[in-house]
Amino acid sequence: MIDLSTTYRGLALKNPIVASASPLCDSVDKIRYLEAHGIAAVVLPSLFEEQLILDSESVDSDLSRGAEAFAESSSFLPELGDYNLGPEGYLELIRKAKRQVSIPIIASLNGVTPGGWVRYAREMEQAGADAIELNIYSLVTDPSRTAAEVEKDYCALVRKLRENLKIPIAVKLSQFFSAVANFASHIDTSGANAIVLFNRFYQPDLDINQLEVVPTITLSHPSELLLRLHWTAVMYGHISADIAVTGGVHRAEDVLKSVMAGASVAMMTSALLQNGVAHLDTVLSGIQQWMEEHEYQSIDQMRGSMSQRNVPDPAMYERANYMRVLSSYALRSPVTRNS
Ligand SMILES: Cc1cc2nc3c(=O)[nH]c(=O)nc-3n(C[C@H](O)[C@H](O)[C@H](O)COP(=O)(O)O)c2cc1C
Repeated sequence: MIDLSTTYRGLALKNPIVASASPLCDSVDKIRYLEAHGIAAVVLPSLFEEQLILDSESVDSDLSRGAEAFAESSSFLPELGDYNLGPEGYLELIRKAKRQVSIPIIASLNGVTPGGWVRYAREMEQAGADAIELNIYSLVTDPSRTAAEVEKDYCALVRKLRENLKIPIAVKLSQFFSAVANFASHIDTSGANAIVLFNRFYQPDLDINQLEVVPTITLSHPSELLLRLHWTAVMYGHISADIAVTGGVHRAEDVLKSVMAGASVAMMTSALLQNGVAHLDTVLSGIQQWMEEHEYQSIDQMRGSMSQRNVPDPAMYERANYMRVLSSYALRSPVTRNS
């Protein structure tokens, strides 16, 4: 009997597939449907720092400073209310979900500054959330702000959350750090129980006829997984936090690769939006079948087996891969010379 179970930040999961934050998890009915198709845990859509600051009635100095800082983005708050039910509705969703499903419910906060709004996380905990995922989606457009300042603030935010909570904390990171492994280890020591690799970076497009900058969101492609596999494989064994992969997990083999690179769980959204939630049945049976054929007994047995520390050629995760990959392409495809 193959054992698909795993643990993620101390939560016991029946398999390594988690639904990442998206509208697929914004109601109890949808969460039940995901559970019926075998999902092991869900992350609720994010609640935003801006929503919490403006919603707060006890405007202390921390909060009022934040409200000024977010004056511009706050114009989008009515739209956000539809997206994630707003602060009160969010707590109610956690409570209802905890009553009606048995899989872990992970609440998600999206914020950047270590302000008083973080206290709301405790309310998420009290409502029954099994863990909190912190999505730090910051775009540092100020040229005078240094990478060191940004990283220091992120760690302070994680520490602040840790001070406020007993439940596990995961931090969803962007890939855009020059020393991503070092930064992840600081996030780890600041109190994160898991890191989620990586946030997708949604870039606006330019409408050249209307002269407008337009928001765009495209679903992921499995090729995006490779970046996540790379950094998971590098970090596995170097940080005590668990690793979750998000971005490009579409098929059974993507989940297997994530686990072999060192992930505790693989998260899915785009594939479920594209193919429907029933796609989980195919992915789960594909995992089972592959494990049977290759004589693996459990997910734990394969975790990290292809991480940098466990592969015969660790240099493949470093500069050597760059050189090898470029030269192998040139050998395979001789260029036709016209001159
Ligand atoms: C429509 C949509 C809404 C999303 N909302 C959130 C969100 O509220 N918070 C968050 O952290 N990520 C959000 N994401 C990102 C997903 O959780 C996930 O990390 C990303 O889509 C990459 O995974 P995938 O390749 O499986 O789609 C959203 C993605 C989509 C497509």
